[in-house]
Amino acid sequence: MRVLIVGSGGREHALFWALSKEAEVFVAPGNPGIPEGFRFAVSAEDAAGIADLARRLTADLVLIGPEAPLIAGVADELRAAGFAVLGPGAEGAFHEASKQRSREMMQRAGVPVPRFYSAQTVRDAVSLSSAMFESGSGVVVKASGAALGKGVVVCSTPDEAEDAIQMMLVDEAFGEAGRTVLIEERLTGREFSLLSVCSGERFVSLPVAQDYKRALDRDRGPNTGGMGSYSPVPWIDDDLVEKAEAQIVAPILRMMKSEGIDYRGVLFSGIMVQQGQPYCLEYNVRFGDPETQSVVRRLGPGLADLLLAAAQGEELPKPQVLPNAAVTVVLASGGYPGSFPKGVPITLPTALPEGVELFHAGTAMSDRGLVTGGGRVLAVSAAAPDLADARRRAYETCGSIAFAGMHYRRDIAGEPL
Ligand code: AMP
Ligand code: GLY
Repeated sequence: MRVLIVGSGGREHALFWALSKEAEVFVAPGNPGIPEGFRFAVSAEDAAGIADLARRLTADLVLIGPEAPLIAGVADELRAAGFAVLGPGAEGAFHEASKQRSREMMQRAGVPVPRFYSAQTVRDAVSLSSAMFESGSGVVVKASGAALGKGVVVCSTPDEAEDAIQMMLVDEAFGEAGRTVLIEERLTGREFSLLSVCSGERFVSLPVAQDYKRALDRDRGPNTGGMGSYSPVPWIDDDLVEKAEAQIVAPILRMMKSEGIDYRGVLFSGIMVQQGQPYCLEYNVRFGDPETQSVVRRLGPGLADLLLAAAQGEELPKPQVLPNAAVTVVLASGGYPGSFPKGVPITLPTALPEGVELFHAGTAMSDRGLVTGGGRVLAVSAAAPDLADARRRAYETCGSIAFAGMHYRRDIAGEPL
């Protein structure tokens, strides 16, 4: 099988690593972690360029990693050209571009979600938020549009909520994405990420993972795209996964179908469990990053066949799950998720400990060698017989990598141990 992966992050490098065991895999545009000869300098959003490349490579499967090209309709263009594509068309991805739309869609589908309201003026937003506080619940203020996972402020006091509302609606901190804000009931509970591979209404879920959204240890600091992940998540049992599949994944796919969408791709549900009840905080139309970096470490052979079957709208084989554990730690640029320098030289160890893979994300090649090129620079991913061992190996490796300003969380997978 010949696979073309579209995208350039840690998720795409991890998928390249996993699929290369069972297929010939190419990436566009990819990153320096992927050997030359396997990556092609075509932008992920250049639909015609990607279709040309898929033709030249005679790809059996095209897998689209990030949401931007999905929302831009790259999958539609490839399907029209006759390719099997993993990733929904623009209509299937449409809701993801707006939290308000996706929330409303989930509500119509009967998916459990936190109470929410939307507002476009400070006056409305503040009055909704005050009413929410008076009803005894905390408030989460969210930019409705895509803000790279950063447009969410969890607030404990009305003043904090008002500041967040000001930042989005008046200071326009997230530009267009923050023109509409959601005022949402703050749930309390633990979170997990569920990645389901979907073929229309059929789906199979991959091993669940836990993501760490906040920049700093003990869930302090601003929200980021994700600072680490691990799998399995010991406090999630099969019953809870089945409940989430029945109450969240299945109704979303049914709703898609009722809207005429044949959803072939990954549905990623971000779930919070409050008193045994899973609530969907958000869903995405793609693999999670950095969840994927841990999840692929736990899959046995057959991933390529599974993804191809989904892309072709066929019956899905069950994924083989290994009896191991994986821990992924993201190494970020100084300043991330705020502004950060680029072009900072990176020092890597000459060899990695057993079970450890280094997935590149924001790296670049310069005449001085490997340098930083993004906020999330590298993901250190360790697989081992158990979480404690995987965690030890991941952190040992982090200690052998250096670049000026590098920071990472020290508590990834610390909680279940
Ligand atoms: P989102 O991008 O909507 O998934 O939000 C990012 C993070 O903010 C989530 O992973 C949660 O940790 C937190 N969050 C979002 N919505 C809520 C909510 N309604 N209650 C509590 N925490 C939330
Ligand atoms: N890790 C969260 C995401 O991929 O959006």
